[in-house]
Amino acid sequence: MKKCIAFHSYKGGTGKSTISSNISVLLVKRGYNVLLIDMDVYAPTLQTYFNQNPNYWINNYLFNTADFENVIYDLTHRIRKFHSTKDSQNQWGKLFVSFSNSSKEEITKLDGALRNQASKLELLRKFILIKEEMAYQNSIDYIIIDTSPGIRYWSINSLVIADLILLSLKMDSIDIEGTKKMANEIYSAFTKIGTKCYLLFNRAAGYCYPPNLVQETSYSPAANYELIINEQLNITDKFKRDVDMEIIGNIPCYCDIQFDNKEFLTVLKHPYHPFTHLLNDLVDKIERI
Ligand SMILES: Nc1ncnc2c1ncn2[C@@H]1O[C@H](COP(=O)(O)OP(=O)(O)O)[C@@H](O)[C@H]1O
Ligand SMILES: [Mg+2]
Repeated sequence: MKKCIAFHSYKGGTGKSTISSNISVLLVKRGYNVLLIDMDVYAPTLQTYFNQNPNYWINNYLFNTADFENVIYDLTHRIRKFHSTKDSQNQWGKLFVSFSNSSKEEITKLDGALRNQASKLELLRKFILIKEEMAYQNSIDYIIIDTSPGIRYWSINSLVIADLILLSLKMDSIDIEGTKKMANEIYSAFTKIGTKCYLLFNRAAGYCYPPNLVQETSYSPAANYELIINEQLNITDKFKRDVDMEIIGNIPCYCDIQFDNKEFLTVLKHPYHPFTHLLNDLVDKIERI
């Protein structure tokens, strides 16, 4: 296996699920076999995102009620229809997804098991074994983990097994302060043990596309856009001074994605969208790390 990548954030709504799903398929397009795991156990979304009705969940694996191969779903067929003749020379990899159960009972069960030391340890042992299970069984190249925001048990565990952590933020005031604190207090420990950690700005406040057209003086969309980007870069710069982490990407808020009835794999539906462009740049960097 090449890498296990965790998408994390301080707050929700920073684009973890959107970006982890889109990045997963871009890696598949490059010929890699990818396993995407929904570890946002308190608010899972990948089941809805991929419109699936699984019989087995990652919860079953963790509680020993199913083997690992039963809780991963090969969804390569779901993305095959986007395989154009232009791509036909390239061999696509496979996309496997493991879902987290969103029923109230299962979430409570997972939370409850953490109150008992023995069951907590057993859950942790099973979770750590995922990397080994995948490396042997399916020749997986990348494991992508969509985590819970903040510093809850399952997000920390996800960060522990990751080789690369991408911490996404939106740049509103609560997000900035929380992210700074988390980066300085938690991430520094991961960096010490060799985990690579990067900041990923996404849906940054004020950095919108199409640009915000409100202008104090005369109207000039181009000048206004410049102004907004400069403003955003200023904030990014200030942020960098307080946090010892490199920035791996800066993705604007695209209205068409934000207000899409159901965003689904924009990188496949719209291969020439600037979002796709930026995510491809991100995948280039991920491959090089
Ligand atoms: N760059 C972006 N531009 C516009 N909308 C985005 C962008 N990234 C994510 N979104 C939208 O923001 C919302 C929250 O994203 P999501 O991936 O669910 O966040 P999280 O998993 O961190 O809670 C979704 O509606 C998603 O489509
Ligand atoms: Mg999510």
